[in-house]
Amino acid sequence: MDFEMEDVPVCDVIYQPTEKAKYNAHLSSFDEYKKLYDESIRDPESFWKKMAHETLSWDIPFQKVSSGSFQDANIKWFEDGYLNACYNCVDRHANKNPNKVAIYWEGDQTSESRSISYLEMKNEICRLANYLESIGVKKGDCVAIYMPMIPEAVYAMLACVRIGAIHSVVFGGFSDEALKDRIIDAKCRVVITADEGVRGGKVIHLKNIVDQAIESVEFVKTVLVVKRTGEPSIQMKADRDVWYHEKVSTQSKDHKPVSMNSEDLLFILYTSGSTGKPKGVAHSTAGYLLYASLTFKYVFNYAENDIFGCMADVGWITGHSYVVYGPLCNGATIVLFDSTPFYPDASRYWQVVDKALRKAGDAFPLKYDLSSLRVLGSVGEPINPEAWQWYYDKIGRNKCALVDTYWQTETGGIVITPISSVTPTKPGAATLPFFGIEPALLDPHSGHEISGNGVCGVLAIKSPWPSITRTVYGDHERYKMTYFTQYPGYYFTGDSAARDSNGYYWIRGRVDDVINVSGHRLSTAEIENALINYPECAEAAVIGKPDEITGQSICVFCILRNPNIDKEKAKTDIIKQVRKSIGPIATPKSVYLVPDLPKTRSGKIMRRLLRKIVSGETNFGDLTTLSDPSIINKINIIVSQ
Ligand code: WT7
Repeated sequence: MDFEMEDVPVCDVIYQPTEKAKYNAHLSSFDEYKKLYDESIRDPESFWKKMAHETLSWDIPFQKVSSGSFQDANIKWFEDGYLNACYNCVDRHANKNPNKVAIYWEGDQTSESRSISYLEMKNEICRLANYLESIGVKKGDCVAIYMPMIPEAVYAMLACVRIGAIHSVVFGGFSDEALKDRIIDAKCRVVITADEGVRGGKVIHLKNIVDQAIESVEFVKTVLVVKRTGEPSIQMKADRDVWYHEKVSTQSKDHKPVSMNSEDLLFILYTSGSTGKPKGVAHSTAGYLLYASLTFKYVFNYAENDIFGCMADVGWITGHSYVVYGPLCNGATIVLFDSTPFYPDASRYWQVVDKALRKAGDAFPLKYDLSSLRVLGSVGEPINPEAWQWYYDKIGRNKCALVDTYWQTETGGIVITPISSVTPTKPGAATLPFFGIEPALLDPHSGHEISGNGVCGVLAIKSPWPSITRTVYGDHERYKMTYFTQYPGYYFTGDSAARDSNGYYWIRGRVDDVINVSGHRLSTAEIENALINYPECAEAAVIGKPDEITGQSICVFCILRNPNIDKEKAKTDIIKQVRKSIGPIATPKSVYLVPDLPKTRSGKIMRRLLRKIVSGETNFGDLTTLSDPSIINKINIIVSQ
């Protein structure tokens, strides 16, 4: 635990919701939010019953709203209901508004874009669903998806869901080794990928990476390959690899969705925790879909005919909940963005904002005038008040709501956030809980809840909500241990937070060994494990170092087996090793070769001290457990060189 009491922020700057933010508001006032919130906590059963009936289309409506507890790690919602998430996200909108644009796709080059209607999307998904069934994929099977941000990635997710298969999307920036671990853990027999991806002008050799990942994985029977770039050198392995355009386009465009129980798993998504191996965070069908849909509607104040652009990749939970499930369940037009904010230059997002509107038929005339924006969002890491202010003034032009949305892969949807149309905001605060969420700040040592305002503690949640993760795939014990054991009776987030004098929450960041680089979650243990495979490394410790641009950056301390080898080469090899094991997102920014590491007398590495050394701090706090105090000075010299 890496918790230090900090001051509770005092902030006099308060922004009331702008006129623009109130457009077609689902809630008319802040008081209405408070009233609904109180209801959702006082009587969660009737609140969620009503919401679930209003929001989702059921094949067989549920009778029972919720059961289970954190203690028993057996949470269930709507457990006797049946529905299909793909039907909810696609068919019901395609039936009503077949020509409405579902996906506005923007490729890597500014010249590449496409609009796909709800009906077209439905037909494509049905074809793929039919193909997957034809090769024997059935309810409960896991399918790996390793793709760029192309429409077929969304089709792949929803086709799985349509036939009751569980998807496991692996971010295209992960290496073959990371992909292999994920394919093996979920025993995926089918992998859906593309020949190549292109990001910021750089080619990502997806198919080659898949080939390497599954070279020795015999249970993978089919690799379905979308032709994205048409690179002619792609090797197709006979009897295993098939081209998507050859097999899928010949299928029927009709397919009856499989009726799923509310608690059947919808998908798994791997994420890093405080220990080595990434875990398959599993979400179930109805609770997840309901919560993603409702948070989307209220937090962003979605209005019919809005175009919603969430620039996240579908390889992350943000892409699942706010590119795919939340918006599509509401019948919205989504933007699927397959590039980077800096390509070809730093105005790319703002180009997309204007272009998406024009393509969708709206007559917004001005170049990057951004007047079409109504709500801006931020997620993934604490946004500092200066960055918040820049975003609010320069992009929102003081007219938009800015919502700092706090949540996690495990929470399924946003849990602490302003409601854009009604909540007064403070730069840097995630503000207040969403409906049904009861946050608690706990004393990290005693585990007691800290009441009142103007306090800080570790952040926990007191009672189950519909989209909380149901298990760690294949390891329910790890699920219990990670979230419910340290503070019995609570869901523990792993973050610390402050609650200011108005009861607003300010998220501080992780108190465990999780590093957050540009919103990408990695664990120190995962990177340290990768380094074990570098033969010259005797021992390594990894920490997150504060970084102006990326929030944190990865910093490696390594003890070499043979200190006389070429040091520059060793550093490069260390970086290469991490990229090979995990992927480019885990590239270390600094590598220090050290004679030893600060350890407790019992041999535990004191990462807290390494963090202090790299941030130039001189007050090291309590050093009584440190076995060799002279190491601090030695490392200090190396770091400051
Ligand atoms: C961790 C979860 C939620 C989708 C993207 C990340 C940090 C997330 C905020 C925020 C401060 C935030 C937390 C959390 N985080 N949102 N608004 N303010 N910190 O999902 O990869 O599961 O990471 O991201 O530390 O625990 P994730």
